[in-house]
Amino acid sequence: MKFFLDTAIREEIRDLAALGFVDGVTTNPSLLKEARAPYRRVLEEICRLVSGPVSAEVLAEESAGMLREARELAAIAPNIVIKVPMGSEGLRAAAALHAEGVGTNVTLVFSANQALLAAKAGARFVSPFIGRLDDVGQSGMALIEEILDIYGNYDFETEVIVASVRHPMHVVEAARLGADIVTMPAKVLRAMFAHPLTDVGKAKFLEAWREVERG
Ligand code: E4P
Repeated sequence: MKFFLDTAIREEIRDLAALGFVDGVTTNPSLLKEARAPYRRVLEEICRLVSGPVSAEVLAEESAGMLREARELAAIAPNIVIKVPMGSEGLRAAAALHAEGVGTNVTLVFSANQALLAAKAGARFVSPFIGRLDDVGQSGMALIEEILDIYGNYDFETEVIVASVRHPMHVVEAARLGADIVTMPAKVLRAMFAHPLTDVGKAKFLEAWREVERG
């Protein structure tokens, strides 16, 4: 299972990448806004920090505009992946970019039908937003299960990125289902390291060792 960071904050990416747990990064306009710097410069820096795929989203609403933006974004670095929004225009752009050899991540996916269309359009990644589904009283993880079942029936190359992750249990559930990738905020990845009993255990071992040293 691959771990992507869902952030544009370069310090967070740098710290966690140094630990070896960052296989890629996903950004979106809201996340780039939080980085408080020109988006192109932010993306260039992220691509230098991480060798895996870095998703950068187009803003145009029509496929022709999306393609123009996509070509500019793809020129930033070889590991840029173009995020296109779900919909007929986004999928048209995804298919054209696939034909040009540019990888895409179809974002804002909330149903199995949408994920099926993204795969047929040749998307490299599909991003179902599980947290936002949970927020409206639907099961995000049930959607992941459904998409993985469907993709398993065919030879689609599209990888499922479990997105809109809110807490470490989302990661555990996604891993149990065999999802390809989870993209998560830095705080979720950091929380995965922690357990109160680990802290208690470390403190006890340290104290025991100090007593041994005191003799
Ligand atoms: C994924 O690529 C998106 O950037 C992200 O996961 C959205 O998450 P949110 O619902 O927390 O905004």
